[in-house]
Amino acid sequence: MKPVFNRILFGGDYNPNQWPQDIWQEDMRMFKQASINSATINVFSWAQIQPSENQYDFDELDQIIEMLSQEKMDIVLATATGALPAWMFKKYPEVGRTDYQGRQHKFGQRHNACPNSLVYQKYAAAIAGKLAERYGHNPYVTCWHINNEYQGDCYCENCEKAFRVWLKDKYQTIDALNKAWNMSFWGHTVYEWDEIVLPNALSEGIGNDKTAFAGISIDYRRFSSDSLLENFKMERDAIRQFDPDTPVTTNLMGTFKGLDYFKWAKEMDIVSWDNYPAYNTPWSLVSMTHDLMRGLKQQPFMLMEQTPSQQNWQPYNSLKKPGQMRAQSYQTIAHGADTIQFFQLRRSIGACEKFHGAVIEHVGHEKTRVFRETADLGKELTQLSEIMGTEHNGRTAIIFDWDNYWALEYTSGPTIDLTYVDQVHQYYRYFYEHNIPVDMLSVTDDLTDYDLVVAPVLYMVKEGVKEKLTAFVENGGTLVTTYMSGIVDQSDNVHLGGYPGPLRKLAGIWVEEIDALAPEQSNQVKIKEHISGSSSLVSDLIHLEGAEALAVYTSNFYAGMPAVTKHLYGAGTVFYFGTQLDAASFDHLMTEVKEAAEIQPIIAEKTALEVTRRQSESHDYYFVINFDPETQPLPAYFVGKIDILSGATLKEEQVPQYTTYIIKEERHT
Ligand code: GLA
Ligand code: ZN
Repeated sequence: MKPVFNRILFGGDYNPNQWPQDIWQEDMRMFKQASINSATINVFSWAQIQPSENQYDFDELDQIIEMLSQEKMDIVLATATGALPAWMFKKYPEVGRTDYQGRQHKFGQRHNACPNSLVYQKYAAAIAGKLAERYGHNPYVTCWHINNEYQGDCYCENCEKAFRVWLKDKYQTIDALNKAWNMSFWGHTVYEWDEIVLPNALSEGIGNDKTAFAGISIDYRRFSSDSLLENFKMERDAIRQFDPDTPVTTNLMGTFKGLDYFKWAKEMDIVSWDNYPAYNTPWSLVSMTHDLMRGLKQQPFMLMEQTPSQQNWQPYNSLKKPGQMRAQSYQTIAHGADTIQFFQLRRSIGACEKFHGAVIEHVGHEKTRVFRETADLGKELTQLSEIMGTEHNGRTAIIFDWDNYWALEYTSGPTIDLTYVDQVHQYYRYFYEHNIPVDMLSVTDDLTDYDLVVAPVLYMVKEGVKEKLTAFVENGGTLVTTYMSGIVDQSDNVHLGGYPGPLRKLAGIWVEEIDALAPEQSNQVKIKEHISGSSSLVSDLIHLEGAEALAVYTSNFYAGMPAVTKHLYGAGTVFYFGTQLDAASFDHLMTEVKEAAEIQPIIAEKTALEVTRRQSESHDYYFVINFDPETQPLPAYFVGKIDILSGATLKEEQVPQYTTYIIKEERHT
């Protein structure tokens, strides 16, 4: 596709308003040295630009924007609404949030506005509009950044009222709502809309993350995601009145649970996200998250934030080792980013982020390792704009669904150890390790371009999903699904008539019972008569209804029953994993899946390197990165080819950790 920007934006969050002006000139000098061509400004400046209710003061922002424009920087202009000014709290305490425990918050922190406060809405829309009116015509304002990392819930009375309105719109009648939430359970039937209360710790909440009525809590999650999305749309529309063209985004947070990002992405011109893996986050999970962010719009995205080296808010904030930031940046581009931006450009002097890494460290000059590595990367990126807008074209898809994420994790039983992202990641990891490109899709996306679709723990099967998956398989697709799938409808009520409900015919099985295994327990399984393995977490007790068994339990009272099955259906095949297998058994069966679907890896050779590919109409760009602490042989496929980053011809060699190559090849079709 045509890229959204003219060049790879390279820069990040920049807060000159926290510094005296003589520092600004130093910043400009150093940015140039590091090929920094972009700055994200005004993210938390609401109190500066609107010092009181009726007073706006854009003098300093004018100067900052003037300076950056002089430097021909691409400005990512934030609307400053991520933290409320003190005066607003003082005059209108209702703008603050009420938390899950029912406590109304005072001035402090950030991401702290009640999304349904009319006062907040009025002032947020006003400031966004004023900024667009003032700066929207500036050609250096390249992107609008609304708010910041939208997140969090509010349980105040305003939100309660808004929830009732949202519900009335959804259900129309109180009878329909009672039925959807199964309110005859525990005599919870409501007769008037104003009897409905928010499901927090004072109501249906059980502990911090479980609930007595998942139906209510899931609807609250949808409502909460929609409430913040309305805030986003409101600011976007205020901007659009003055600036019809400049792309609008807000920075997302990967697999963050609180917001249905597929729904959000439809309202955004380009997806952007903040990537902060911990020292021990698997690289496959980082890669999956990038693919998910690309999948939201099935388009390239912006990396709005990463740290050049150190974090501050994780338990252990290790430095990025030499070469690591470069490797991570290229991994990000490999999976679909068209920008590399940092939090932040200059390290702050006080408050809780003074230990957060920055391009310019506290020492204040450019003679640092972090600066050098940033500058080296910046220089390289100036040569790579041809990669912007290129595509991925995988044949394998994994389904990710926020409703399902919420429902699966709200449910009481069968085990507390079942977590959505980990389950999805387990399947992703297989493909990652085999260098098979994956697209992360929503349950409503079109599946026709795919040969293999994996829908892990598809616990909630909403209307239309069964039909979609059935058509996919009938037309020759290979579908993988698992335990805890097909159990409930969109309101968390069970699909009666035997698990996996709407998927039963497709999978050719009936699951009679679901056993939970505690961490110290396991079952034995046998795969195709000759391999034995073990399984854990949950065990489905499966009856075959047309499927064949690929693995059977050999222990427990259900020894002899199938654990993994395969069903030929229409022109396609359905695999069902009824238990969590040990790594070797899992790998073995996933290889069978891969072969059934005739899925090809990017290169045929097995390698521990990460190999990803972006494609233009004429060329393939291979990103080859070693994330393994051990050196790894360069696959023969790349020997003799040119690494476009260094210009060197690659030899037969052992590549150390964080080595990164990009190989460009013309495609002959
Ligand atoms: C988030 C925020 C930034 C900053 C960084 C620190 O991503 O958007 O403002 O706080 O975290 O890692
Ligand atoms: Zn509220």
